[in-house]
Amino acid sequence: MSSSRYPWPGVIEYYSDFLPVSDATPRVTLLEGNTPLIPSVSIGPSLPGKLELWFKYEGVNPTGSFKDRGMTMAISKAAEAGAKATMCASTGNTSAAAAAYSTRAGMLSIVLIPAGYVALGKLAQALSYGARTIQVDGNFDDCLRLVREITDKYPVVLVNSLNPYRMDGQKTAAFEVCDALGEAPAYHALPVGNAGNITAYWWGYKDYQERGITERTPRMLGFQAAGAAPLVSGEPVSKPETVATAIRIGNPARWQDAMKAVKESDGILRAVTDEEILAVYQELAAKEGIFCEPASAASVAGVMKVAAEGFFGEESATVVCTLTGHGLKDPDRAVSLAQEPEEAPAETKAIVEMLGF
Ligand code: F0G
Repeated sequence: MSSSRYPWPGVIEYYSDFLPVSDATPRVTLLEGNTPLIPSVSIGPSLPGKLELWFKYEGVNPTGSFKDRGMTMAISKAAEAGAKATMCASTGNTSAAAAAYSTRAGMLSIVLIPAGYVALGKLAQALSYGARTIQVDGNFDDCLRLVREITDKYPVVLVNSLNPYRMDGQKTAAFEVCDALGEAPAYHALPVGNAGNITAYWWGYKDYQERGITERTPRMLGFQAAGAAPLVSGEPVSKPETVATAIRIGNPARWQDAMKAVKESDGILRAVTDEEILAVYQELAAKEGIFCEPASAASVAGVMKVAAEGFFGEESATVVCTLTGHGLKDPDRAVSLAQEPEEAPAETKAIVEMLGF
């Protein structure tokens, strides 16, 4: 463990003993990580059985999603290798993180996004951080195919989760969960899109166990949106559709690794409907005080679904759900589902009357 632990130095410095870095590796960091593990006060107690539910709230990372953990590693290693440009395909969050960290390292960031299917906050980020932002007439899978072809031929570093350093960085979320709980949880639930994060968490949990820091590893619970659930059906989906645009992916790059993670951990992969996702998305904000983006709610929706089916039995167990991105990423969705604000003149009397005081 790094000696400079406080103030928080970012995930590379804090977990340098667990990552493929040396003193020569530049730390391109926005002090990501160290995100809160929040106990559930409403949804957890309402679940059947004796589950202890926690939320790993990744929305408070510097660009508002878990992608910052992987991106600090990918861009630091690219900088170490002398790279001048990076490229990624993205449903939005990867592009925001790639743009921020590449800019910080003085590199050009090129991002390919599916036209019309990236939430407004994420688009605002890529543009503001100065990425060369290209909207492609196709979906995420098309964008990733193009990025693979281009980065194979030209001197541009691919920073999707096919980049192994992204995975190294994202393992740190599993380390933090174990550090916070003093042991690995019994279950860890995640939304699954390109399938990098579930794979990275699993590798991270295994690393901690192999080093004797934890005794056990969790069962990994992966949840996909029903209209974009290739890992559940076992078939690529040519036209993925879901309101959770972050996970609108039909042919995940880390398909095999994610299947292995689920198998090795004795986990499950299931689909949740858009209705289930949106109901929990609203409940997390309105009952827990945690605003996450729709895709993030898939982890909690999945846990609620399988809990209702009796999956956890009467076991008393710790369940961690990762809330992958901040609610502000997708303001259009939030406003479209919420009640309209009330209106009043600028007079105390009128407002007091409205409130019934
Ligand atoms: N949740 C959010 C908010 C995401 O942005 C993503 C992936 C996931 C979950 C799924 O993680 O792909 O590792 O299985 N977003 C990518 C992107 C695809 O381009 O931002 P995964």
